[in-house]
Amino acid sequence: RRPRELDGVRFLVSAGPTYEDIDPVRFIGNRSSGRMGFAVAAAAAAEGAQVTLVAGPVHLPTPRGVERVDVRSAREMREAVLERAGASDVFVAAAAVGDFRPRDVAPHKLKKASADSGLDLSLVQNPDILAEVAALDPRPFVVGFAAETERVEEYARAKLERKRLDLIAANEVGAGLGFEREDNALLLLWPGGREALDRGDKADLARALVARIARLRKPVGEQ
Ligand code: PMT
Repeated sequence: RRPRELDGVRFLVSAGPTYEDIDPVRFIGNRSSGRMGFAVAAAAAAEGAQVTLVAGPVHLPTPRGVERVDVRSAREMREAVLERAGASDVFVAAAAVGDFRPRDVAPHKLKKASADSGLDLSLVQNPDILAEVAALDPRPFVVGFAAETERVEEYARAKLERKRLDLIAANEVGAGLGFEREDNALLLLWPGGREALDRGDKADLARALVARIARLRKPVGEQ
């Protein structure tokens, strides 16, 4: 069999949305299905990597050979990721982490007070998991995603630099793009380089992303 590029390399991948509870029956979530992150985990495992997948609430089977940790909220995801990031060689943040959560979780189901009353929700910011992993010393090779609805390359390049990432995979999201679907298109950006991956199946894009990670981790002369 052909030599596998990532034999023994420890990958940590986050995938899916987070759910931020409002009360025992309601939450704030987003449209991530987890497909992109699960495809990255599967592609890395197929190249011989030892993969741990931290998954938000999704309806997907665990890829073969991958260790899976299920979480619900951004804070649970942060804990699961930070527990493992120090012992990882590569961290790929494909999860759509909720940026905000309700300040308080109501202990009982919120009731309508009257027919025309509204509800004001007070939100606070969640921790930025990717930025925290990027700030570790020593740190793994850090790969972020950027979900943008406009000016994709400009905003993604700014995220790459601001969060001091090794690589960012940018995708345009919105109506019929990025989330939920089987296909996607990615623009890979790293310090001094770029590669546009045309629209295609998420499994194919994940294989190309993993190949790029393997190349960038090699010493410069061998790339
Ligand atoms: O799951 P699918 O349906 O297959 O859809 C795939 C996808 C569109 C969700 C995926 O390709 C994608 O873009 N994932 C990142 C979504 C996102 O949250 O992007 P962002 O630009 O808001 O965040 C930038 C990066 O910071 C991401 O790597 C994110 O994981 C990370 N982040 C964001 C907020 C936060 N509090 N903590 C983080 O770690």
